[in-house]
Amino acid sequence: MAAIAIRGAEFSDLPYFYEICLKTGGAGNDASSLFYDPYIIGQYYAAPYLFFERDLCFVAEMDGVPQGYVAGASDTSAFNRWLESEWLPPLRRRYQNYAHEKIKTDVEKNSVALFYKKLDPAGEAERSFYKTYPAHLHIDLLPSLQGKGQGKALIKTLFAALVQKNVHGVHLGVSRTNAGAIAFYRKMGFASLKEEKWGLVMGAYI
Ligand SMILES: CC(C)(COP(=O)(O)OP(=O)(O)OC[C@H]1O[C@@H](n2cnc3c(N)ncnc32)[C@H](O)[C@@H]1OP(=O)(O)O)[C@@H](O)C(=O)NCCC(=O)NCCS
Repeated sequence: MAAIAIRGAEFSDLPYFYEICLKTGGAGNDASSLFYDPYIIGQYYAAPYLFFERDLCFVAEMDGVPQGYVAGASDTSAFNRWLESEWLPPLRRRYQNYAHEKIKTDVEKNSVALFYKKLDPAGEAERSFYKTYPAHLHIDLLPSLQGKGQGKALIKTLFAALVQKNVHGVHLGVSRTNAGAIAFYRKMGFASLKEEKWGLVMGAYI
């Protein structure tokens, strides 16, 4: 029988973060065919978390191979400032001349555009939202590990780590078409907070 375990993430999990992010990045489905550059989506949604606050990143592995992760940031405003000052500038330089013929789909085009979206100047509404729900998370499991209770276990592990840091509000974004994830988040205690063009923002008190 396969051995499944959850553990704190290591820096050496980085390639798995990119891989899992890509293979679940199409509203929960494999997005590999949508990208010419397989790293773009993980550059934004997965890898930075390992460098910013690794103690809020956890991995679910099967037979010693990472097949899922949850990645959190306890203070979204601080995380966004760090993205602006440290993480995004080299990506902005690298991708500014990204040849148009290499952009395979609108999904890839929109993902590159995320690198250029200014993150820091949060308006008043956003600041008060971050006071109530300061943390945010991303969770992705490969199909081989889905439906086995590991998503729930990862969320509970992250929640415990956030509470240790005295953080009690967490939010996330989910595509409107990802009905499975929305149902999962509701089970985990998240409620829908606002509708954006790209999907739903959900939040939970822990
Ligand atoms: C969404 C995801 C994180 C859920 O993790 P999981 O390990 O499959 O879910 P679990 O087995 O831990 O399920 C926990 C609970 O949520 C429910 N749930 C999970 N997936 C569900 C689904 N698709 N539809 C309805 N309920 C679901 C389970 O029934 C279970 O309920 P219970 O506690 O009453 O038994 C995982 O399936 C996944 O990574 N999907 C692909 C990537 C993705 O969509 N990520 C989210 C992007 S915003």
